[in-house]
Amino acid sequence: MATLAPSAAKTGTVDPLDVSRAELYRDDTWHAPFAEIRAKGGIHYTADSDYGPYWSVASYKPLVEVESLPDLYSSEAAGITIADFKEGVDVKMPMFIAMDRPKHTGQRRTVAPAFTPSEMTRMTQNIRDRTADILDTLPIGERFDWVDTVSIELTTQMLAILFDFPWEDRRKLTFWSDWAGDIELVKNDELRQQRLMHMFECGAYFKNLWDGKIGKEPTPDLISMMIHSDAMAEMDQMEFIGNLILLIVGGNDTTRNSMTAFAYGLDQFPDERAKLEADPSLIHNTVQEIIRWQTPLSHMRRTATQDTDLQGHAIKAGDKVALWYVSANRDESVFEDADMIRVDRPNARRHLAFGHGIHRCVGARLAELQISLLLEEMAKRRLRINVAGEPERVAACFVHGYRSLPVELSRY
Ligand code: HEM
Repeated sequence: MATLAPSAAKTGTVDPLDVSRAELYRDDTWHAPFAEIRAKGGIHYTADSDYGPYWSVASYKPLVEVESLPDLYSSEAAGITIADFKEGVDVKMPMFIAMDRPKHTGQRRTVAPAFTPSEMTRMTQNIRDRTADILDTLPIGERFDWVDTVSIELTTQMLAILFDFPWEDRRKLTFWSDWAGDIELVKNDELRQQRLMHMFECGAYFKNLWDGKIGKEPTPDLISMMIHSDAMAEMDQMEFIGNLILLIVGGNDTTRNSMTAFAYGLDQFPDERAKLEADPSLIHNTVQEIIRWQTPLSHMRRTATQDTDLQGHAIKAGDKVALWYVSANRDESVFEDADMIRVDRPNARRHLAFGHGIHRCVGARLAELQISLLLEEMAKRRLRINVAGEPERVAACFVHGYRSLPVELSRY
């Protein structure tokens, strides 16, 4: 029997299972409400929140079900985050992450060749060298911020290589990405307008880079690859810029926060760290496990295109559905001791941090490569990260990560 959603009218009370509240992420207290939603089947309706009424899908099985039905649960109807678009203060950039079939298929095809296994092989040495260069400048036994010195710098360098972006301007990528991914701005129209301005600035910068490559011989970077792709015929200029911004945002916070999770998470589980230090063949599995444990994007959003039933719950056409990867990746029915990092977890690869189905992360291989290279280069140098204070966490229910993390390095 389907249960009906309560009225979406303002109730005036806080739903304790409203998992969109920023403070849950700032204070790292999201575990309990999600565990409660999972215990009652993984689906919950919040009638009122900062983002209006929404459904939470927080267990593994129903989340996979929703992602497997992209015509019924649209990415295009109202975007991919829990925050609704607001005319005048938001950027409506066309991006294939927020498109449905068939348009999504054609546009994804323009960038997919940049992430093939052979492209990864081509980029490996460059990324390895840059990782090594950064590690070799780090002080031993002295406190520094891992986020800015390592995670941001490495991620930004990788994106600059991918786009053939002017090296000296690379921190602009970080700046634009931080603005683009900040859904907390929903509460402040003035800041939303500032974001709009920065996104235009970013668009203009990329338009320039694009103009510089038009009519030239192909080069092995994403902009040139997109220009010379057959599927390019399906894109107009706005879509081209929108998709470039998508790639910056997609590749930036996510990889950055996985790198910080590596530093923070293994320090929380010293026995597991010892296992990894003793056996570097565990690196590849550890990378998957860290991505699962962190889940750098807490959610993606879908909008129901028609009335439907989701495991006994009546979803109405137009309803907002938040897919909480951060919770599905802690689903005990799939991952034993899910709150623990286990470097040899047999099914770490089954995590949903990259999503599932037609929108599954196109950059997953590159992210995995970068994080693996970081772990490999750390292992070669026998470097251990010791957390020297509490991290400052991002206060938002979309990007799940860290603003800073004080650490000290030692050798083992
Ligand atoms: C899609 C997470 C790294 C580019 C996605 C989605 C997730 C995700 C959850 C699914 C969206 C959905 O189902 O609606 C992550 C995580 C990463 C990561 C956790 C790192 C650990 C990257 C990198 C890039 C990238 C390095 C590119 C440089 C994209 C793009 C999409 C996407 C373009 C859209 C795919 C589509 O709609 O078909 N990512 N991502 N991501 N990601 Fe990533």
